[in-house]
Amino acid sequence: MKTWKLGHSDVEVSALSYGTDLIGSRIDRETSFTLFDLFYDRGGTFLDTANFYSSWVEGCSGGESETTIGEWMKERGVRDKIQISSKLGFDYPGSDGGLSADEIERECDKSLARLQTDYIDVYYAHRDDFDTPMDETMEAFHRLIQKGKVRTIGASNVWLWRIAEAGKLAEERGWTPYQAVEQRFTYLRPRHGADFGPQIFVTEDMKRYCRHHGITLIGYSVLLQGAYTRDDRPVPAQFAGPESDDRLAALRSVAAEVDATPNQVLIAWMLRNDILPLFGGSRVEQLEENLGAVDVQLSDDQMDMLNTAGNPDVKKAWLR
Ligand SMILES: NC(=O)c1ccc[n+]([C@@H]2O[C@H](COP(=O)([O-])OP(=O)(O)OC[C@H]3O[C@@H](n4cnc5c(N)ncnc54)[C@H](OP(=O)(O)O)[C@@H]3O)[C@@H](O)[C@H]2O)c1
Repeated sequence: MKTWKLGHSDVEVSALSYGTDLIGSRIDRETSFTLFDLFYDRGGTFLDTANFYSSWVEGCSGGESETTIGEWMKERGVRDKIQISSKLGFDYPGSDGGLSADEIERECDKSLARLQTDYIDVYYAHRDDFDTPMDETMEAFHRLIQKGKVRTIGASNVWLWRIAEAGKLAEERGWTPYQAVEQRFTYLRPRHGADFGPQIFVTEDMKRYCRHHGITLIGYSVLLQGAYTRDDRPVPAQFAGPESDDRLAALRSVAAEVDATPNQVLIAWMLRNDILPLFGGSRVEQLEENLGAVDVQLSDDQMDMLNTAGNPDVKKAWLR
């Protein structure tokens, strides 16, 4: 599998990232190990987790995902081959959330202990914190890098104007700016005004900002929980509408042309558009299918068709 560098850092990750929010909770330990083994055998090395995964699942209190990743890495002896992204910012039992210096220090240590490691490859602000001065947050992240506890940092669910402010501040003070931005993304485009709660969807502006500053853009929830292929998973209301019908038709048509599934085509399309795909998968067949995207080759014509579907008047340059 190809690798990507995260921003200007020296963290090199696999071009596909496996999301682990249900690992060690709804996905039991044995299945989790099988899925990790499969991902790793296919060249996948980039695992996405967070301190509070999966505190929302009944009987869980957070930390289950990190703990299971730590156990798997230890049992297989692969810590140095794997890149871990973890995050903090949401509250869960034992943490009030936020991005204060104390919280960053404390939550990082808890994550390191659960992961049974002494460093996290990329540590994200999982959400913004308007009650903590930005310089306190950025300095605390920078201190973690200086101590070697974190290799680089990123922002997730943070508005672009705040990412830009943080970048400017870090530059002025000699601290590390965010090198990766993880936001919600998929092939279907949200309707105007669609509400994603605390989640923020990738915008054209964000793509251009990240490209200009050499920041790696990562998209999550890209498969819409399987809605592209499954009858039991309707397209979420935030995306429903005539434009999405056209885009779904284009995706299916290209999938038929290249003898792949719609899920594989959308992952391949993301890679070509320089957005690193981060997906889930609770079964071997699902993960096999998603990983198969690396073998899908899309021609320039197919990329144009996918990019412009649903809105042919949009300048292609905007979409690239
Ligand atoms: N930074 C953030 O705020 C944020 C937010 C959300 C997610 N994430 C990250 O992104 C990861 C993925 O998020 P997600 O679960 O929302 O996204 P997703 O990849 O859109 O959905 C994953 C789910 O889709 C189904 N699925 C996966 N592959 C499939 C396939 N080939 N065919 C049919 N169905 C398939 C499975 O559902 P079933 O298991 O029900 O079968 C799977 O659990 C998370 O684990 C997390 O690491 C980050």
